[in-house]
Amino acid sequence: MITLKDSITKENLLKAFAGECQAWRRYELAATQARMQNLEVLYWLFHYTANQEKEHAEVFYNHLKEFNGQEISITADYPIDNSNNILELLQLAAKHEAAEHDTIYKSFGDKAKEEGFPDIAASFHMIAKIEKVHSQRFERYAELVQNNKLFENETPIEYICLSCGHIHNATGAPQICPVCKHNQGFFVRLEDSPFGKEKILTL
Ligand SMILES: [Fe+2]
Ligand SMILES: [Fe+2]
Repeated sequence: MITLKDSITKENLLKAFAGECQAWRRYELAATQARMQNLEVLYWLFHYTANQEKEHAEVFYNHLKEFNGQEISITADYPIDNSNNILELLQLAAKHEAAEHDTIYKSFGDKAKEEGFPDIAASFHMIAKIEKVHSQRFERYAELVQNNKLFENETPIEYICLSCGHIHNATGAPQICPVCKHNQGFFVRLEDSPFGKEKILTL
């Protein structure tokens, strides 16, 4: 059986760690950009996802513990999404997340399995599934922004203010929260809130 030291998986883990650290930081930069444009809801979308990437980074890094104090050399391509355009940032994020799921982590997981590291393979394959959810979430929000539907819906739905928790049932979020006076950018569809009504009811 091959040791991790002589494996391709060792390099794949470091590539994944580097990729997750970059995604974490890219999303925090995008979050700041969204906040500057009064789109607090997108600040939280990027920040929420960034925290998950930070966790993925830690999972991959922990698999490299036996190399403590050493260096591993890698060559890899990483994206540069340095834009002020929120729609573009959402679309690029969706694209990268899809690539992680569809090809990168799937192939890294398959290689780890082939080389005899089932625990590492499981990390790659399970995180690949999470990246698919990330991709779909970014894609959905890109479409909402593109269609001017971030704060509008054809039928009445519930929006929740991320600042004070006020719930507004209408075909659109109010321009200003009637309770805390924060701007419309603070409103998120209640169904998308991590502690949304339906999710609490199904606990
Ligand atoms: Fe990730
Ligand atoms: Fe992700």
